[in-house]
Amino acid sequence: MNLVFLGLPGAGKGTQAALLAEKYNIPHISTGDMFREAVKQETELGKKAKEYMEAGELVPDQVTIGIVRERLAQDDCRRGFILDGFPRTIAQAEALEEVLQELNRELDLALLIDAPEEELVERLTGRRVCQNCGATYHVKFDPPEVEGICDECGGKLEQRDDDKPATVKKRLEVNRKKTEKMIDFYSSRGILTEIDARGEIEDIQEKIIRLIEDGLNDN
Ligand code: AP5
Ligand code: MG
Repeated sequence: MNLVFLGLPGAGKGTQAALLAEKYNIPHISTGDMFREAVKQETELGKKAKEYMEAGELVPDQVTIGIVRERLAQDDCRRGFILDGFPRTIAQAEALEEVLQELNRELDLALLIDAPEEELVERLTGRRVCQNCGATYHVKFDPPEVEGICDECGGKLEQRDDDKPATVKKRLEVNRKKTEKMIDFYSSRGILTEIDARGEIEDIQEKIIRLIEDGLNDN
C-alpha cells in the first residue's frame, strides 16, 4: 500500500498517518518530521532547512526530493509507505513518480485531508508535540492525561516553533495554492480521493480505513 497524504497545515495528516502506519505496520514518512529532527541534531540538512521552516516557507525542492528518494529506497518501504506532506510541488510530484518507477512501484492513492481554515488555525495553535517521541496532542481536542506530559513516554510536550500565530498564517498562505496544484496533479492521474476531516480523530481514521480497504477490494 503506497499512499500520499495531502492537505493544508493542521488538517490532520500526521495524526491520521501515524495511526494508519501503526495499523498496517508500514513506515510513516513525514518530510516535516525529518527536517525537524535534522534541525534538532544540527546536521547539514538541518542547517539548510531551518530558515525556511522558521519563515513558514517550503524547503527547496532539490533538498526535499533528495531526502525522500533516500528514504523510499530503504528496505522497510518495500511493503508500502505513507508519505505525509510530500509532494507539495509539481517538481516533487514528478520526482516521486520517477523514483517509484525506478523502484518498480506506483502510488495507490493520494488522499486529500480537508478541513475548514478556521479549524486549522485552532488545531495548529493548540497543538503540542512530545520532545522525546514526537507524539502529537492538542490542548483541547486531544489532551494528554497529565498536562504537558506525553502519555506514551513521559516526555515534555511543547509547541512547535512554526505554530506561533504569525507563522501559521504564512504557512497557510504558502500552502493553499501548492495544495490546489497537487489536487489537480493527482486528479489527472485518477488516484485522488478527498476526505472531510471535521469531527473526531477516531471517526476520521475509520473513514480512511474503510476507503482504503474498499479500494483494495476493487483491485
Ligand atoms: P509539516 O511538518 O509537514 O507541517 P504542515 O504541512 O504545515 O502540516 P502540519 O504538520 O502542521 O499539520 P498536520 O496536517 O500534520 O496536522 P496534525 O495531524 O499534526 O512541515 C513543516 C515545514 O517543513 C514546512 O512548513 C516546510 O518548511 C517544510 N516541509 C515539509 N515538507 C516539505 C515539502 N514537501 N517541501 C518543502 N518543504 C517541506 O494535527 C494538527 C493538530 O490538530 C494536532 O494538535 C492534532 O492533535 C489536532 N487534530 C488532528 N486531527 C483532529 C481532529 N479531527 N479534530 C480536532 N483536532 C485534530
Ligand atoms: Mg504534520
